[in-house]
This record gives sequence, C-alpha cells and structure tokens, in this order.
Amino acid sequence: MEKYNYGMIGLGVMGRNLLYNIADNGFSIAGFDLDQQKIKELEDGATTGTVVAGTDSLEEFVSKLETPRKIVLMVPAGKPVDAVLENIKSLLSKGDIMIDAGNSYFKDTNRRVADLAKQGLHFMGMGVSGGEKGARFGPSIMPGGDLEAFHAVRPMLEAIAAKVKGEACTAYMGKDAAGHYVKMVHNGIEYAVMQLISEAYDLLHRGANLGNEQLYEVFKDWNNGELNSFLIEITRDIFKQKDPATGGFLVDQILDKAGSKGTGKWTSEEALETGVAIPTIDAAVASRTLSSYKEERAQASKLYSKPEITAPENTDLFITEVGDALFLATMISYTQGLALLVKASKEYQFQIPLKDVVKIWRGGCIIRSSLLETFYEAYSQDPNLSNILLNDSISMLVKSKVASLRKTLAFATSNGISTLGLQTVLAYFDAYTTENLPVNLIQAQRDYFGAHTYQRKDQEGVFHTQWESTNQ
Ligand code: 6PG
Repeated sequence: MEKYNYGMIGLGVMGRNLLYNIADNGFSIAGFDLDQQKIKELEDGATTGTVVAGTDSLEEFVSKLETPRKIVLMVPAGKPVDAVLENIKSLLSKGDIMIDAGNSYFKDTNRRVADLAKQGLHFMGMGVSGGEKGARFGPSIMPGGDLEAFHAVRPMLEAIAAKVKGEACTAYMGKDAAGHYVKMVHNGIEYAVMQLISEAYDLLHRGANLGNEQLYEVFKDWNNGELNSFLIEITRDIFKQKDPATGGFLVDQILDKAGSKGTGKWTSEEALETGVAIPTIDAAVASRTLSSYKEERAQASKLYSKPEITAPENTDLFITEVGDALFLATMISYTQGLALLVKASKEYQFQIPLKDVVKIWRGGCIIRSSLLETFYEAYSQDPNLSNILLNDSISMLVKSKVASLRKTLAFATSNGISTLGLQTVLAYFDAYTTENLPVNLIQAQRDYFGAHTYQRKDQEGVFHTQWESTNQ
C-alpha cells in the first residue's frame, strides 16, 4: 500500500483547509476525525488529482503514514491536545513528528515536548495565522521546537505558506515552544491593533459624525496609504456590509460585547511575568472585559452625563490626524509585542530570530501590514535591536506622528470618548522617551515605609535613610 506523506488530526474548518492546502501542493495526506460527516466532507471537497483520504480509526490513520510519521494536529487548545497525544502515543515509533498547529498555551507545549521526547518522539508547537482563508490558500506559519524535526517538514511548510516577494511566510522561530510563544504575541498585537481601530472608528463616527459610507471611504484611503494592512482592509469592508434583517448596515446591529479565547490575556500575563511593559496590549484585553459589563455600562451612562460632543471644525484635518495617531499607535503595539519577544527569547532560551518573525508576519497573518516591511528593514540593519523605537528610520516616522496623537487624544478627552488603547500608546511613548521619570519618589517612599533601599545618582551603592528621624 502506498503510504501518505502527512497526517492531519482534526478536520474542522481550519484542519480541513490546511489539509487541502498541503494536498494542493503535491503532498499526499490522510485525515483523522471521529466525526464521519467531516470525513465525507473532506473527501468530497478535495481538489481533483490530489491524494487525500479520511478515516475515523486512529490505528488505520497511523498505519497509512510513511515513517518517520509527520502528523499535524488541528484540535482545540487545552485538554483535546492532551487527549489526542495520550491516544496516539502508543501507536507511534521513535523519530515520528507531531506538530501542534492550534493556539496552544506555550507552557503546555513545553511540557508536551519534554513528555514525548522521553519516547523519542518529536513534538513541535506551530503557530498558524490567517483564519480559514489563510489556512486554505497561504497562512503565516510559526514553527518552533526540535530543529531536526523542523527540517523534515520545512519543504511542506514553505510550499503551503503565504508568499511575499517570492519568499515563504514561514521560518524557524526557535527552540521548544518558541513557535507558540511567537503566535501568542502575534495575537496580543492583534488585540491591540483591533482595539485601536475601534477607537479610531468611535472618534470618526461619534466624534466627527461620519456615517458608514464615509467610514468606508476613509478606511479605503487609509488602506491605500501607509496604514495598509489586513485589519484596515477588512474594517473597510465591514462598513459596507448590509444587514438583510433591517436593510441598514450590519455593523450598527452588532452588540458591543467582544469575546476572546484567551491568547491576549496570556500575552499580558506573560509580560507581567517576564517584566516587559506592554500597556497597549493590556488595555486591549481590559477593554474587552469592560465591554462585557453591558448592563452596568448602561446604568452608569444614565448616572454620569458626558460632555456634549463638539465635532471638529475641520473634518478632513481631523481624519488625517486620527489616521496618523492610529499609524503611530499601531507601530507602538508592534513595538511592545516585539520587546516582549526579545526578553522572552533570553529568559526561556528560545533563540527567537526577531528579523525572521517580522519577515514572516509580512504576509498571510492577521497582523500583516506594510509596516512590517519597515520593521524588517530595521532588523536587517540590526538583528539585536532591543526596541523598535531605537531605530533611526523608525524614529523619523514616529516623530512625524506624535503631534497628531496628542491632538487626537485632546479631542477624545474633552469630548468624553474613551480611548484606553490610544492613551496607553502616548503614555508609553512619553515614559519610554523620558530620561528622568518620577520614580525617584517611589523609591523614597519604599525606603521610607519598608527600608527597601534606593540607589543614588551621584554615588555607587545601595542606601537607606531613617526618614522620620531626619525630618523631625
Ligand atoms: C489568527 C487569529 C486566530 C483567531 C484568534 C482570535 O492569527 O488567525 O489570531 O488565531 O482568530 O485566536 O482570538 P480571540 O478569540 O481571542 O479574539
């Protein structure tokens, strides 16, 4: 019997689409799912001429694969991944490779890598971004883990990934759970940028009275300029979508409560853990939480009146300023996420190649944007750049936008429009670019009440003062 090159466990939309993508690129592939219906759909929908088979028997699935087996997992993160591994472990042989392509928590991935290594099995954590369409026609792929295993699957990954300037949007992201870590941070940035876009929308819509048709035009212009990105592009199209039920625009009928699956929260938790400031990502996570207080917000809005919104005098100028503010804010969101990767790479010895991270985010993924090209150039000049803001060309860009951000925020504050994300961007920027922060006072307070000591500007060493006695 002819053996299949690859196996796919989990034939939901993402698994099926990734499988078809692999098959369309000339690899034979067998799929496993317990759901008979999904197997039927898989076989019916395969491109003619591709070699695809489905089964609901794990034994049959494993026996169909060439060795060392290369099996991709696309099942929900958490317990389902452990359940699959538990069931399949005894059927596999030394040297086989399992690739978890879901949004797994990186600490789970580290544990699984170690567990399976005891049996001589390779386990790779691999971030896949781009949603259903991306999986089918070219995602951004973030594999990490054992280098030997990576090389075994590399030709397939390069074939199925999105391409930018002829280069595949996939590269080795580093050791152990590096692939899932990079994907987690990708999602943290995704949360931040989505939050910032929603704030820009609010400023233009409630602040400057722009209707959906006008918003469509603004986002169209933005997408044709330096803000060009996947998220701006889909936002543009959202403003056009009509609602069959009411005949109005769909966006106006959607409840203002955002869900989340947890990757943004993990990014924030991780930043606290590793000691990296990512306030814009934190604000995006908090904003989703705030959005869930729908009933309380309705109650509070009656209790606390807001200033009447005074629309800007010059709408065109305002649109430009909001666009500039959004551009800078987007940039700072990437800055924070990338700074987290720099620190985590050292902390966990992942050896994450930052230059390759921004390179493979240029296409296929949800946060793809023209800005990534600029970052790629910056990392090409200095692969060890600790913070994007320290790059000369980027600093020029940033400087050209700061005034617009300040003006936009002045408008938002005086009109009572919440801009949690944008506020953190400016606060982060102002703090990061201030040589002397008021933290001398915090050190004095800590030493005053807890004898925690402090350092001095003019002398080396650690000092403690008997504060009360000096003052009496
Ligand atoms: C991607 C997306 C994808 C998914 C997010 C949504 O890169 O393709 O990030 O992974 O859409 O997990 O996350 P929330 O449900 O938490 O918003």
